[in-house]
Amino acid sequence: MMTTPDSSPFHGCSRTRELLPRLDTNPIRERLLPYCRLTCGKVWEDPVRGHRVGVLDAARAGDMEKLAAGARIDCLIADPPYNIPVGGKQSEALFHTESASYLAFSERWIEAGLAVLAADAHFYLWLGADVRDGFQPLPDVMLLLRRYPTLHPRNFITVRNQRGYGTQANWMWVRQELLHYAVGNPVFHVVYTDIPKVLAGYYKVVGGARKDNLARGKSPYIRPGNVWIDIQQVFYRMEENVPGCYAQKPLKAIERILLSSTDQGMNVADPFAHSGTTLIAGERLGRRVFTADSDPVYAEITIRRLERFRAEGLTGWQWQSPFPEIDSAGPDGAPPR
Ligand SMILES: C[S@@+](CC[C@H](N)C(=O)[O-])C[C@H]1O[C@@H](n2cnc3c(N)ncnc32)[C@H](O)[C@@H]1O
Repeated sequence: MMTTPDSSPFHGCSRTRELLPRLDTNPIRERLLPYCRLTCGKVWEDPVRGHRVGVLDAARAGDMEKLAAGARIDCLIADPPYNIPVGGKQSEALFHTESASYLAFSERWIEAGLAVLAADAHFYLWLGADVRDGFQPLPDVMLLLRRYPTLHPRNFITVRNQRGYGTQANWMWVRQELLHYAVGNPVFHVVYTDIPKVLAGYYKVVGGARKDNLARGKSPYIRPGNVWIDIQQVFYRMEENVPGCYAQKPLKAIERILLSSTDQGMNVADPFAHSGTTLIAGERLGRRVFTADSDPVYAEITIRRLERFRAEGLTGWQWQSPFPEIDSAGPDGAPPR
């Protein structure tokens, strides 16, 4: 997440940094704990639409059953820690461990997730590949997933980030991987980007008339396909930004998954909630969401984000703090690093 000083005004504000630091590595999280309504093992049920948010362990089968409370999940979206040191730091939330123990963790949460799926369901998994460590864990987890005969590979999506790193001595690293599997035969809808089709060039004879691809298509826009180039990573100038959350996924990506792979009223699960993106996407699109995080601070942020959305129509806090009870600003107005 970007925290570089920049004094240019934006939406009338001249803030240069978010009002909460990365929470998983900063001791400030201890001061937030008393303001969290859930403790470990507890689940909050939304009185309005029945969403459920828990402080639970995704790798424990009983916890996933507790979260689902008898419901069957039509689409599971998992964004676990990638086993890659994030921003050069690691923590309990975004951990880095040796490969065998990461795979054992993956096996546990995958099995717990599969146990709550409907007979026809989608299974999406965000994952990374560490170039400094033999590209683990992506290929290892792909091999692990072959062990589950009900889980059929559907696609391998790459989301292209706008900003990357390693620009001078290497190809800039701009990719995020999204694995897509399915059990049974779940619904699937074609979706479009808002990028206009610009390339005419191949023809077909339809009803005796020669028509090019632009005239023939169902939409003037291109489909995302399995390389998504139109999604901005979240950073502190975007309204959807949640300060303190270092690994937030863009709402547009999660909404694309829900629009393509679920219908209104269907059940969606996200066992690694963090900033609660899946919950907001489900709320906006009329899906019921079951989500959890092992850290009560992230579960609290997830619930507050929903409440803020309902009260003010805002999808995040931009640079402001989700915990206004705590004065997190230092003498220069910036949060502790
Ligand atoms: C990569 S982040 C998820 C980001 C999320 N998709 C978003 O858009 O904000 C991973 C989250 O998993 C949580 N986590 C780590 N181990 C967990 C476990 N065993 N069970 C549940 N959550 C866990 C971490 O606390 C962290 O918030």
